[in-house]
Amino acid sequence: MNGFHFKNNQWMADGVALSKIADKVGTPAYVYSLSAFEDRFKEIDQAYRSVPHLVAYSLKANGNLSVVNALAKLGCGADVVSGGELFKARSAGVPASKIIFAGVGKTDEEIAYALHEGIRYFNVESIPEILAINEVAARMKKTAPIAIRFNPDVDPHTHHYITTGKKETKFGVFLGDVDKVIKVVRQSRSIQWTGVHAHIGSQMTQTAPVGRAAKVVEKLVLQLRKEGFPIHTVNLGGGYGIDYKGEKPPKASQYAALVLPVIKRLNATLVLEPGRFISGNSGVLLSKVTYVKQSGSKTFYILDSGMGELIRPSLYEAYHRIAPAQGPQAPKQVVDVVGPICESGDFFAKGRKLPLMKRGDLVVVFSAGAYGSVMGSTYNARPLPPEVVVRGSRFAVARERQTWEDLVQNERIVV
Ligand SMILES: Cc1ncc(COP(=O)(O)O)c(C=O)c1O
Repeated sequence: MNGFHFKNNQWMADGVALSKIADKVGTPAYVYSLSAFEDRFKEIDQAYRSVPHLVAYSLKANGNLSVVNALAKLGCGADVVSGGELFKARSAGVPASKIIFAGVGKTDEEIAYALHEGIRYFNVESIPEILAINEVAARMKKTAPIAIRFNPDVDPHTHHYITTGKKETKFGVFLGDVDKVIKVVRQSRSIQWTGVHAHIGSQMTQTAPVGRAAKVVEKLVLQLRKEGFPIHTVNLGGGYGIDYKGEKPPKASQYAALVLPVIKRLNATLVLEPGRFISGNSGVLLSKVTYVKQSGSKTFYILDSGMGELIRPSLYEAYHRIAPAQGPQAPKQVVDVVGPICESGDFFAKGRKLPLMKRGDLVVVFSAGAYGSVMGSTYNARPLPPEVVVRGSRFAVARERQTWEDLVQNERIVV
């Protein structure tokens, strides 16, 4: 696990024992290894060094300001999908010229904000959105640079909830509608069409779907150039998978081997939007056993965190490795690891063989750096946990734990 290792009988984040962080900060808490984020960014950046490219880290995976700031310092850009994410990217120090704004439902206010900031371009997902961006840009007397996201109808072979590149999903423009798009863009005076975008899904563990999508995009770019559009940007999205439970996901260089020839043939600039690849294994959720409950033949480890902190197991039945933060690691008994929330779906693992644990023991839920904290909710009025960043032997709270007061601060009792 990047940045996390077992040493002297305990799990460490870089040079800091997770137990030390728990002593200082309490549990539950997210812990991020900044060097792990940086190393993963560098792996992708290096893999594509032979072509002009921008790695625009996908904030939706983990938008922690300290993390995004560390990446920005290395030259990383940002892929954002809301005005809020754009605000966070700018707050973290990402230059507007390295920000790409994607998403199927941008509002006029968000479009205006992005134009005001001067972002690199919009990834546009529909004809009505082209019209909206054109209208807002005209009102602001600006020209909006756009890439159009096409749906290449390629199966990424991943969970259906994170499949986006098949034609039945809501994402991107149907390839068969390219002529309609051309017509609309020609009539839109305040946009400039300079890129094509395709993102087919998340947690891919094979390279072939990326290669197929790149080929579809290549054909399209050539067609559009013939039509007179100066398409110089090819955006192939994110989706590179990680090891959650022993998968052997490709290295960035293996994807690059398929993508680079296409980019070179097109003489284009490549944009990538990795999220999980950079963040997934760079963070863990640190929790504590509140109770060990015996119920008939079943044993439950009830933790002080649950679907409010990390919803992936409940949402996608996603697998996360789990281990005691200290002590023997050998699996001894089959248990369900569950949270405190009043839902049967509130679990981290079912029927998992784990070491014996007792009330008060610290637990590490691994691979929680992507789509963890960002999907947090306060359901059951449970404050969001803090986010702690580690660099070498130092650590600091990058986002404070919410308080009960925070939970009611925007509410008032009205008649
Ligand atoms: C358009 C787009 N780009 C990038 C990403 C990031 O994906 P991943 O975290 O799998 O790299 C997503 C995730 O859903 C996405 O929808």
